[in-house]
Amino acid sequence: MGTGDLFVAMNDLKSLEVGMLEQLKALQQVALEALNSAETEEALQVWRATHLGRNSPLMQVFAALGKLPKEERPAVGQEANRVKAALEAAFEARREAIQAAALTRSLEQERVDVTLPGRRARMGRLHPSTQQLRLVLDILKEMGFQVFLSREVETDEFNFQLLNFPPHHPAREMQDSFYIETEGRSENPVLLRTHTSPGQIHAMRYFSSLNPENPPPIRIALPGMCFRYEQVTARSEMQFNQVEGLAVGEGITFSDLKGTLTDFARRMFGQDVRTRFRPDHFPFTEPSAEMDVECFVCGGQGCSVCKRSGWLEILGCGMVHPIVLQNGGYDPRRYSGFAWGMGPERQLMLRYKIDDIRYFWGNDLRFLEQF
Ligand code: DAH
Repeated sequence: MGTGDLFVAMNDLKSLEVGMLEQLKALQQVALEALNSAETEEALQVWRATHLGRNSPLMQVFAALGKLPKEERPAVGQEANRVKAALEAAFEARREAIQAAALTRSLEQERVDVTLPGRRARMGRLHPSTQQLRLVLDILKEMGFQVFLSREVETDEFNFQLLNFPPHHPAREMQDSFYIETEGRSENPVLLRTHTSPGQIHAMRYFSSLNPENPPPIRIALPGMCFRYEQVTARSEMQFNQVEGLAVGEGITFSDLKGTLTDFARRMFGQDVRTRFRPDHFPFTEPSAEMDVECFVCGGQGCSVCKRSGWLEILGCGMVHPIVLQNGGYDPRRYSGFAWGMGPERQLMLRYKIDDIRYFWGNDLRFLEQF
């Protein structure tokens, strides 16, 4: 018997208390059976509309209460309320059971297999220049040099003048510059530093300011990017790294320079490496030199990398010029020092026989991933 039939039958049994009580029981039974076959949330909602909704047989009973004789009303009303509460409770219980079953099913079906090996995260790597820069700094740190960072945007004063390059000095021509602010600054334009040497002045001024009467000794490494207004070719880039070294103190001589740089070359290129110094000129050092290491490609025999000379030039160096010491706040009558500058990219090119400097900033993974 469907619920529709029940409703019709109930109407036929007008106002008969016993009949109505029995109808309520029957109606409850039919509803509970129907509830048991509801398997989804949607089926549950349909069930609720059918059996507890406004037009459900049960609600029709409530509506019909008024037509019963007064004495019969309480018993039928109570029974109708009991059935309603029972159906609602059954509905909730069924709903919980369906939700629990859905949860169990999803846990079962969407189970994560924790025994599967994870996907390995792809590791990036440091740029070869950074790797070489760190290698150089690690060696210098072992040798007692502290890292001192200096700015990339400089004034003409620091980049040139305080380093003993007077305005219009021909040595400036070796370092064509990116001037970024000249308006109203004809004497002292702003530029991107062309070398790390201006860091020498900043560092000396910093250390001498700590104790102007007795400035402390200095042993520092100044790493960083430099920029030159160059035609970009296989041999020259418009940006590159340098590492500058500076030692200032009392009684420092050219022997200290040679000993320190020779030791550096051994730590960098191997204990057996041979080195030589050749005279050169830089405005901020006197005397000045270039340092070569024996070509590690041909072992000094002469090859295309060393241009048949057997030697590779790796850095420029010299005794800090008295004017530069003075500009840094160190009295040249009492203090002396040595300095050098070298290029990590150039070292890498020599080590790995890289024949084109443009690879470094070309962002070609085929190149970068080899390091
Ligand atoms: N600043 C020079 C350049 O960029 C390199 C250099 C040479 C630095 C001699 C020094 C030095 O400190 O003593 O070419």
